[in-house]
Formats: sequence, C-alpha cells, structure tokens
Amino acid sequence: MAFCLYRVDRMDNTEKKIPNHIAFILDGNGRWAKKRGLPRNMGHAEGAKAVENMMYSAADLGIKYVTVYGFSTENWKRPDEEVGALMNILRRYIKRLLKVALKKDVRCLMIGEKSRFSKDIIDAINDMEEKTKDNKTMTFILAINYGGRDEIVRGIRSIAEKVKAGEISPEDITEEYVSGSLDTAGIPDPDLMVRTSGECRLSNYLIWQCAYTEFYFTDVLWPDFDKNELIKAIEYYGSRDRRFGGVKA
Ligand code: IPE
Ligand code: IPE
Ligand code: MG
Repeated sequence: MAFCLYRVDRMDNTEKKIPNHIAFILDGNGRWAKKRGLPRNMGHAEGAKAVENMMYSAADLGIKYVTVYGFSTENWKRPDEEVGALMNILRRYIKRLLKVALKKDVRCLMIGEKSRFSKDIIDAINDMEEKTKDNKTMTFILAINYGGRDEIVRGIRSIAEKVKAGEISPEDITEEYVSGSLDTAGIPDPDLMVRTSGECRLSNYLIWQCAYTEFYFTDVLWPDFDKNELIKAIEYYGSRDRRFGGVKA
C-alpha cells in the first residue's frame, strides 16, 4: 500500500491530485455483522449509513462523480430472505437519498436494469432522477441490478436495432459510440476504483469503463469505511503515476 505523503483534506484545490470519478464496490457488510454476532441484514443497514457518510465526505473533498455498486445482477441468487431485506433497505435508502441530494445539490442516477425491481422502487428511482437532474455539486450514481456484461449485452442490442433499422452502418460503431450506448453514457470513466473487505476482483463491475482505472483494495469492511479511509484511497491515487498507453496523463 502506498505511503501517505500528504493529507489531501488539508490542501487547497490547486495542490490536490483528486480523482474526478471514484467507483466503489462496497463489500464486507455480511462479515462486519458476523464479527459482531449480528444478522447479515444489520450489516447491510450499517452499510447503507456508510454510503451516505461517504457521499458527504466525497462532496467535501471535491469529488465530482461517485458510483456505488449496491446490488449486482448476480446478487438475486442470494437467499430470498436476504434479497427481501436488501430491497427494503433500498426502498428506505432511495427516499433518504432524495432528501439529502436536494439539500446538498447532488444529481442522482441509477445504472443497471430497472425493470426487475418492484413498481414502487422503479417509481422512486425515476422520481429521484427527475428531481435531482439539474443539481451540480456532485453526480452520485447507484449501480443496482447492475452487471457489466448485462449492460454491454443491452448496449449491443440497442446498437444492433439501429443497424437493422438502417439508422447507422457497422462502420459507425466506434469506441465512443459503444460508450454512448451503455448506461454510463455521458459519465466520465472512473479514475479510481475502491473495493473494501480484501477481495481483489471486479465482480462484473464497470468492466468496459475501468479499462484505465487505478485500483485500490483495502481490508477494511464497508460499514467501517469512513472519511479517513476515503482520504487514504485518494492519497493512494495521488501517489500513482497515471499512464495511458505508456504516455503520462
Ligand atoms: C456487500 O456486502 C453488499 C452487497 C453485495 C449487497 P456482502 O453482503 O457481500 O458482505 P460479505 O462479502 O458477505 O461480507
Ligand atoms: C459485489 O459484491 C457486488 C456488490 C458489491 C453489489 P459480492 O460480495 O456480491 O461479490 P462476490 O460474489 O464476492 O464477487
Ligand atoms: Mg461480498
């Protein structure tokens, strides 16, 4: 792990090397609860609080885009009881998120496949996206029922439909065109990906968008991920010499 050379929260903006977009894989809620002899769902509830606090900290530190992986396309395979509890937490969380986003000038978006959620959740997500669409301070993206492969398949289908309809020809399909056909259209690629709980894999997260992202893995369990931990991740990013094809950024 990189040695912390400076405190990013004590510098002015001109000195900071701050990522524009941080993508989080919040992992370890279950283990956090198990360590305390609590049910897994308590870990998820605590994890939701940590997401809110992280949003405040990221906004304070000047991060413009934050994406959080809250529920994957694979997570439906978990026991019904746990999926049900996660949906209830999501219901409450979206309401709360809308309230704080309006107060803090945060634009909220969802990436992933919406139609598998129940109607009340879909309505709440649409409402949140609509009411926060002109907010400017930060863009906060919830990746729920999200899977990178699923997103790419849906994107390819929409491109294939356009070719079939004669709206575009195969030569029009460039990297930019593919990017613009994904859920993340218009959102810059993540500069930094953070995964908690010691797991070092992408788990189907932003697999197209992370082509040149710096990765930071920490053993800290998600509910314990606080502002100090966020600062460590940003400091790690600041210590990296970013390169794109062997050329400095
Ligand atoms: C992350 O915590 C939250 C979700 C994936 C919904 P986990 O539930 O994966 O926690 P662990 O990995 O079992 O500790
Ligand atoms: C990844 O965590 C998905 C989310 C954080 C939403 P998991 O805990 O589900 O991933 P795996 O199964 O350990 O790769
Ligand atoms: Mg996990």
